[in-house]
Amino acid sequence: MLNPQTRTTTTISTIRPRRLRANAALRAMVRETQIAATDFIYPLFVMHGQGVRIPIASMPGVFQLSVDEAVREAEEAAALGIPALILFGIPAHKDPVGLENFAPDGIVQQAIRAIKTAVPDLIIVTDVCLCEYTDHGHCGLLNSGQHTHLPEGYVLNDETLGVLADTAVSHAQAGADVVAPSGMMDGMVAAIRAGLDAADFSHIPIMSYAIKYASSFYGPFRDAADGAPKFGDRKTHQMDPANGREALREAALDVAEGADFLMVKPALPYLDIIRQTRDKFPALPLVAYNVSGEYAMLKAAAANGWLDEERAVLETLTGIKRAGADLIITYHALDAARWLK
Ligand code: PBG
Repeated sequence: MLNPQTRTTTTISTIRPRRLRANAALRAMVRETQIAATDFIYPLFVMHGQGVRIPIASMPGVFQLSVDEAVREAEEAAALGIPALILFGIPAHKDPVGLENFAPDGIVQQAIRAIKTAVPDLIIVTDVCLCEYTDHGHCGLLNSGQHTHLPEGYVLNDETLGVLADTAVSHAQAGADVVAPSGMMDGMVAAIRAGLDAADFSHIPIMSYAIKYASSFYGPFRDAADGAPKFGDRKTHQMDPANGREALREAALDVAEGADFLMVKPALPYLDIIRQTRDKFPALPLVAYNVSGEYAMLKAAAANGWLDEERAVLETLTGIKRAGADLIITYHALDAARWLK
């Protein structure tokens, strides 16, 4: 039998990182990244009706909400110290242009007014895109014969810009604090900036989804927002997941066009892109969108007892912030804010 007393020990090194991990107080003292409720932007899906709270099967804990229910959710977010919401609308009717997108009494415009009245200090960001509003589910107006050199159904760039600008102005008129174009049209930031400025909204910032990939991780969102394309995909405007250098080109363009925030989306498969954007564009606040599929993965694993939800969520959000994000759009916002209390 080996006697532990008689064993010789060899000192491998006097440099021991474990010294700083010895107890919780020491670990807290040397922690490099802190997350807090103030880092989160909470997404809400609003629809017409009263007292409506429809659960999204692929996103447990997320609902399609009527305006009155959205106000309750907004009050809860504010009480937890979350500074901002991002709103997505589900219109009453869809058409090829998406007319409700910029209607004064559109669903998002109604929600902005109601939430601003109930919780004036909560920042309201609005998603500016066509896909939830168009009957074809695409993020822009489609080619239907007018451009003979482009395929039928191609998402037209310049024709779409006017709709985006009109939508941003309509959101600002309803009281939105920040507009967030998500369609990856070239020139969308410049067009929206010009539209806002011309309508005397030069003080409204643009949070550009500057670097948005054509990702499989948007699947659950498309159930929640009812915005899946009826045919084809978004690969002619959203980025190829294989491309990293191109992301810097997209970000540089949006900075030049006057973006006030940059966003990388999704977050988890693109932490390298978050880091590069943070390093190359240090002057702008950087937002990461922890998207629906990323949420669904953790919720599914937690529901099966395969992961500890609280620890996995807080680790995920910490990782996104450590990669360089200042703000995180996340469906976990309310739970995470409660856990961090
Ligand atoms: C487009 C939009 C999408 C998301 C946010 N804005 C969907 C898409 O591009 O297909 C996805 C968000 C998520 O998956 O959580 N309006």
